[in-house]
Amino acid sequence: MKFNRRTHTCGEFRESNIGEHVVLNGWVAIRRDLGGVIFIEMRDRYGITQVVFEPSFNSDAHEHAKKLRNEFVISIEGKVRKRPEGTENPSLPTGQIDVMVEKLVILNNADTPPFAIEDNIDVHEDVRLKYRYLDLRRNEMQKSLLLRHQMYQLARKYFDSINFVEIETPILMKSTPEGARDFLVPSRLHKGKFYALPQSPQTYKQILMVAGFDRYFQIVRCFRDEDLRADRQYEFTQIDVEMSFVDVEDIFEMVEGLMKVFFKEILGLEITSTIPRLSFDEAMEKYGSDKPDLRFELPMVTLNQVFDKSEFKVFKDSHDKGGIITGLLAKGCGDYTRNQLDVLTDFVKKLGAGGLIWMRVKDGELDAPVAKFMSDEEKKNLIIAMGAKPGDLLLILTGNKLKTLAIMGALRLEMAKRMNLISPDAKPAILWVTDFPLFEWDEETKRFYAMHHPFTSPRIEDIPLMDTNPEKVKARAYDLVLNGNEIAGGSIRIHSSELQAKMFRVLGIGEEEAKEKFGFLMNAFKYGAPPHGGIAFGFDRLAMLFAGKSSIRDVIAFPKTSSGISLMDDSPSHVDEAQLNELHIKVRN
Ligand code: AMO
Repeated sequence: MKFNRRTHTCGEFRESNIGEHVVLNGWVAIRRDLGGVIFIEMRDRYGITQVVFEPSFNSDAHEHAKKLRNEFVISIEGKVRKRPEGTENPSLPTGQIDVMVEKLVILNNADTPPFAIEDNIDVHEDVRLKYRYLDLRRNEMQKSLLLRHQMYQLARKYFDSINFVEIETPILMKSTPEGARDFLVPSRLHKGKFYALPQSPQTYKQILMVAGFDRYFQIVRCFRDEDLRADRQYEFTQIDVEMSFVDVEDIFEMVEGLMKVFFKEILGLEITSTIPRLSFDEAMEKYGSDKPDLRFELPMVTLNQVFDKSEFKVFKDSHDKGGIITGLLAKGCGDYTRNQLDVLTDFVKKLGAGGLIWMRVKDGELDAPVAKFMSDEEKKNLIIAMGAKPGDLLLILTGNKLKTLAIMGALRLEMAKRMNLISPDAKPAILWVTDFPLFEWDEETKRFYAMHHPFTSPRIEDIPLMDTNPEKVKARAYDLVLNGNEIAGGSIRIHSSELQAKMFRVLGIGEEEAKEKFGFLMNAFKYGAPPHGGIAFGFDRLAMLFAGKSSIRDVIAFPKTSSGISLMDDSPSHVDEAQLNELHIKVRN
């Protein structure tokens, strides 16, 4: 089919183009047949231009245009003219002009799409994912992917400008547990052996430091077989970074530089001061989360001191078990009905709380079922500690420290929503969370796990505690948090094989197992490993937040559903028996 190459895109005509003879290629976005004259809005990724078929201007083209339907692919040739007075469309950048068509070539037909190719459609996401090529044709999706593109370019330019080297690391690697489940790839040549897809290039980037590369970065796909959510995919992208001869401050400076670029270039905002920092302990106690949303305050208050002599059984029990009593002040919510309070109680119970203690603050008294268990002194101190005023509502939880704080943290977010504390144009809130515990105790398996990963360095002064009180050891680890989302995480690493061996011991990884799983890294460390550290950004999450979306699926071209299915190409799928045989695999029924 002969057609002329476009001379322009559908987004660029202005009044200065009036009179030009032009060729456009694109899709039929909207078709209007006004009894005689046919108007087509032609779309490509640059925009929309109205083209006009008038029988008196060119009767062949007009006749041909009667066949056009939405999403047909067309090429037109014609003349740009000023739109007749009163027909301008100020909402389109090209709205002052249209193109009078002399020639139409239909390049392809299209079936009627299952949903309209426009913004803000009310269509189940599964349908959008099945017909992703149509979904991606929509302006808002194109905008998101273009923003993502812009962010890749900004990141590459930034790292290149400060001497970082982009190095690719293998996708087929050794299975080295990093917290999540691995995706495994069976080896055809080595019967019974498997590659793993990298959960992150962690070990490689550390080895690149041993190799002397000094400053490494990579925009890299990572794979984790974990439960999917709005901010989690099986395969996701990191901006992965590692540096030698550095301490925490150097990493922070590098990261803050990149965030400055993103904020300025994408949001037009200057980050002028350094990014605020909170320790893990402070973040948990004040906001009940290691990724607190600081677009609003609503702090939690620890009330152990107020109730340290309490006779109220619930408080007394918690006190005796070393638990925490934490309170939240919901300003002006003192008129919550019993029903509303029951809903909040259910909310925390579902998260594992025993119950929710609530108190309505009235003039000079507390209206609450538990008020009778509290002394006047306690009531007075409670009101002072919380800064409560008549008309306010007090919410209190008590129990095991971290668990209770986390539940109150979730309630804090829920109350923020109910109290409309997050305005859609609130200033983005970014912060560092630092001093994470090195280990996490798991009640089920009765052993410690590395909270970040097993290569994370403890604080030097805490090394002796590794043998005596591992739970008290803090890590040289940090997370970057934006609007309540963890957007990056990293640490200063262990670079001595002895300390690494000690770490494995505390984690209950025996010498043999450590050698088998991490021997290559420990060996590398014997040949002059520099002190090093790094971080990895969750690139999809960054793109999601900068695009103002609430799911990373909206900034990934071909994401999986929350049950891990790609609806468009229907994967995962069965494979031939022959393929399985080659891989020495038999599927059990
Ligand atoms: P971490 O496991 O914290 O660190 O991952 C870094 C960042 O990656 C993002 N992220 C995800 N995004 C989408 N889907 C997922 N399933 C997913 N999992 C993680 C988060 C997170 O902050 N090797 C270390 C980094 C280091 O120590 O340098 C690592 O991978 O935004």
